[in-house]
Amino acid sequence: MAQCVVAVDGPSGSGKSTVSRRLAQALDACYLDTGAMYRAATWAVLLAEVDLADQESIFKVVIDTEIIIGIDPAQQAVEVNGTAVNAEIRGPQVTAAVSAVSAVPMVRQLLVSRQREIIASAQRIVVEGRDIGMVVAPHADLKVYLTASVDERARRRSSETDADHAATAQDLARRDHLDSTRATDPLRKAPDALVIDSTQMDIDEVVATLRELLNN
Ligand code: C5P
Repeated sequence: MAQCVVAVDGPSGSGKSTVSRRLAQALDACYLDTGAMYRAATWAVLLAEVDLADQESIFKVVIDTEIIIGIDPAQQAVEVNGTAVNAEIRGPQVTAAVSAVSAVPMVRQLLVSRQREIIASAQRIVVEGRDIGMVVAPHADLKVYLTASVDERARRRSSETDADHAATAQDLARRDHLDSTRATDPLRKAPDALVIDSTQMDIDEVVATLRELLNN
């Protein structure tokens, strides 16, 4: 059977994770959350108390860190040097620092090559991130660019985290800006990606649209 790779890119809070996980479950496929890998690397960097402006030291920490990421859509395991960090990597400190760590070209090179290995080992896989269609899996069978208005994305995020709407919107706009203006592999829509604006759609509708496109 031919391999099937689905690439889902888009800004923070666009619903990528929920859509990708549900789609993977529906397709009986694996699920790779590349953002969790950058977050895990960031957690290790914060623990090492490295200056976030010192790219060389950041890379040294990341290359010496063992990051294990599960690809089961039903229960995503994330471990850093043998410690489970699922909750920690979603905290405000990691969220505030992750764009700086993920902007380091050597860190990206390292994690992109690990992501390609994971993808190659799977028969069917849904991969979500910022650079999947453009860099990590340019030959994906389906590329989706999922987006939504900043206001709607902030509404979704703040309902998940109980954080203030205005502060969440500000943080999303800050990360969108950093992620789309960095020099290496910025957030960009692949020319052959299908754009889905989910501002007015619910998750089930988005998943159903993608399943139709995949004839599944
Ligand atoms: O998707 P999530 O919000 O968890 O991603 C966290 C951060 O990881 C993003 O803001 C971005 O800086 C970085 N990231 C990236 N490339 C990816 C996935 C995530 O740079 N493929």
